[in-house]
Amino acid sequence: MKGFQLYTSNKRIEEVKQGSSILSLLGRGDGTEVLMQQIFANKLFYIYPSDRKETMEFFYIISGQVYCEALKKELKENDYFYVQELAEPVLLKTMIDTKLLWISTEPIYHYISENIQKLIKVVKEVEQKDRYTFNHSERVQEYAMKMGIKLKLSKERLDNLFIASVLHDIGKIHIPEEILNKPGKLTDEEFALIKKHPTDGAEMVKDTYYKDIAPIIEQHHERLNGTGYPLGLKDEDILLEAKIIAVSDTYDAMTEDRAYRKAFSTQHAVDEICQLIGTHYDHRVVDAFIEVLKEEGKI
Ligand SMILES: [Fe+2]
Ligand SMILES: [Fe+2]
Repeated sequence: MKGFQLYTSNKRIEEVKQGSSILSLLGRGDGTEVLMQQIFANKLFYIYPSDRKETMEFFYIISGQVYCEALKKELKENDYFYVQELAEPVLLKTMIDTKLLWISTEPIYHYISENIQKLIKVVKEVEQKDRYTFNHSERVQEYAMKMGIKLKLSKERLDNLFIASVLHDIGKIHIPEEILNKPGKLTDEEFALIKKHPTDGAEMVKDTYYKDIAPIIEQHHERLNGTGYPLGLKDEDILLEAKIIAVSDTYDAMTEDRAYRKAFSTQHAVDEICQLIGTHYDHRVVDAFIEVLKEEGKI
């Protein structure tokens, strides 16, 4: 049934075992995540303050017993607690095997998701193969997020952008190193291989719970006038998230050294991008980007 998600107790979106606990993702949407944490007896665990003060984390004890050191209080089945604007980490201890339902208004699962961590490792390998792209993904992510916030994307879309931007070039893992680092002009066959990386990347993420990001990754080289690749999509068919990554990606590529040229200045890169507003890049995205750079005193 469309919009209706049903999972039985033996099936979870993803489950990660970490030493003394098992953490399963039960659901996610609009930036909120619902998790189940099973912690074995006599284990310490912390709740850390969030970077964002609006974030609320709610915990409901389904079974077990938890001792809160700071309040000298014992909590049992059906008790609950939650944190918001937490000033310092809270230390808790399980007295017996405990099961907690955990709801967070900020996505956190990707930090512990083995699937996502594996993909991020692949991105690091890509960056190692291409010696000019060290930390490229993280810089692209940083500017993409700053633009996304300026463009007032919803929490869920920002969360998807966060993962999509860092993984955007993951499909390059299939491109031979000699081609990635080739200083001269690429042959048609070589360029054809390069053009496959957005589709390959989309393929690599589509089985994770972040499958919504597959089309974003696939479209990050599309251009408004249809001259991009791999699909040659036009403006209205390109996702805003992909348009954001396109600007952030281009900017980063221009302001870093390449095999065939030296880095351009920030102003030069911005001027070039502005020249291509409406043909390659979305004006709203470029406006947001310029605003960010101005705020940072870069232009
Ligand atoms: Fe790319
Ligand atoms: Fe890139």
